[in-house]
Amino acid sequence: MKRGNGLKLAVMALALGAFVAAAAAEATGSETKGKYYFKKSCKSCHIKGGTGGEVSPLSKTQAQWKAYFAAGKHAKSKEDLSTLLTPAQILDVQTYLTAHASDSPQPETCGG
Ligand code: HEC
Repeated sequence: MKRGNGLKLAVMALALGAFVAAAAAEATGSETKGKYYFKKSCKSCHIKGGTGGEVSPLSKTQAQWKAYFAAGKHAKSKEDLSTLLTPAQILDVQTYLTAHASDSPQPETCGG
């Protein structure tokens, strides 16, 4: 009896650990910083009429942003996103863009 309960507890602890790990694997950068980096390092080329064309959180759905940053490529795959920002900054930008994606609860352009 006692032994069986111990095993159950162990299984529950393992399941909880896996859950926490999965949550941590989601984009967990800073949205506020991401907005700042996006304005500072991306918008120069990504305003209407800019060399990269207009890009805002609304340009993609949450799933599309996730896939975009998972691929890690930029400008029609000509270069890596890592040539633009550090990995931590890229995670922040991803968090910001995903939080306001076209199908997010709070869709948003970059506020002009
Ligand atoms: C020096 C100019 C420049 C900067 C800075 C820049 N981009 Fe781009 N970006 C481009 C160009 C050029 C393209 C390709 C546009 C095309 O040909 O359709 C592009 C394309 C894109 C695309 C469309 C998909 C793709 O990759 O082709 C996204 C999304 C994008 N950029 C996001 C970003 C983000 C996020 C940042 C900031 C971390 C950023 N860009 C910074 C020039 C720039």
